[in-house]
Amino acid sequence: MRLVMLGLPGAGKGTQGELLGRRLAIPRISTGDMFRAVLRSETALGRQVKEYVERGELVPDHLTVALVEERLNQADAGRGFVLDGFPRTVPQARALDEKLRQIGRPLDAAVFIHVPEEEAVRRVSARRVCEQCGATYGQAQVEQSGGRCPACGGPLVQRPDDSEETARRRLQVYLSQTRPVVDYYKERGILVEVDGQQPIPDVLEDILRALGQQGNAGVSGG
Ligand code: AP5
Ligand code: MG
Repeated sequence: MRLVMLGLPGAGKGTQGELLGRRLAIPRISTGDMFRAVLRSETALGRQVKEYVERGELVPDHLTVALVEERLNQADAGRGFVLDGFPRTVPQARALDEKLRQIGRPLDAAVFIHVPEEEAVRRVSARRVCEQCGATYGQAQVEQSGGRCPACGGPLVQRPDDSEETARRRLQVYLSQTRPVVDYYKERGILVEVDGQQPIPDVLEDILRALGQQGNAGVSGG
């Protein structure tokens, strides 16, 4: 399947994208993760990207589209993918459509996870990530963890763009630049909408049901 995940910062795109990727045995492609890796690299591109990401602004479309196109050319994306955090402008959505048209493999669905703004801000400020393995945790897991990653023992830290000020800026950017992408897919008849204010496994089951994929419970890997 070829999927994109849509929703406010903190809606659960990464969480559900990861689970869907495993369940459907397709790679999850996160532009946010790709940019965070680039900005750690201390290259000229890294310094350029850092300014945008740390301010909560979008990285310019030409850089983002080039990065995603290159990633989609890799062999594992041939069996499908779940894009997390891309597209987030209408020009990015058009560029993706064009790329997929060229290879004759259009998107199957755009999954929009509904969460109210205040819940999204609450989740983002409570979120911690493992500095060592990159795993993401919500409030309940963080409280039980003693500040260490349950998976690898690494230190749990806040994402630099999860400070309250930057998170609010990301929310504004979403409303002005990314909300129109939801309408873009709605008009094309491939938007799937789910309630993101349920326990994580229930959100996943709703998505799989909407995609006609409930029978995939036993599929793993990817
Ligand atoms: P990106 O990393 O994509 O950030 P984002 O879109 O702001 O989304 P988040 O990662 O904050 O939220 P999420 O929806 O993934 O939520 P999560 O699953 O973690 O982008 C970062 C930056 O990179 C951008 O600001 C921009 O600068 C740049 N960038 C990236 N893509 C770009 C593009 N295409 N164009 C230009 N620039 C781009 O969940 C949040 C928390 O809630 C977690 O702690 C999780 O454990 C918890 N949680 C999840 N689901 C539930 C649930 N059902 N119940 C309770 N808690 C839950
Ligand atoms: Mg994410």
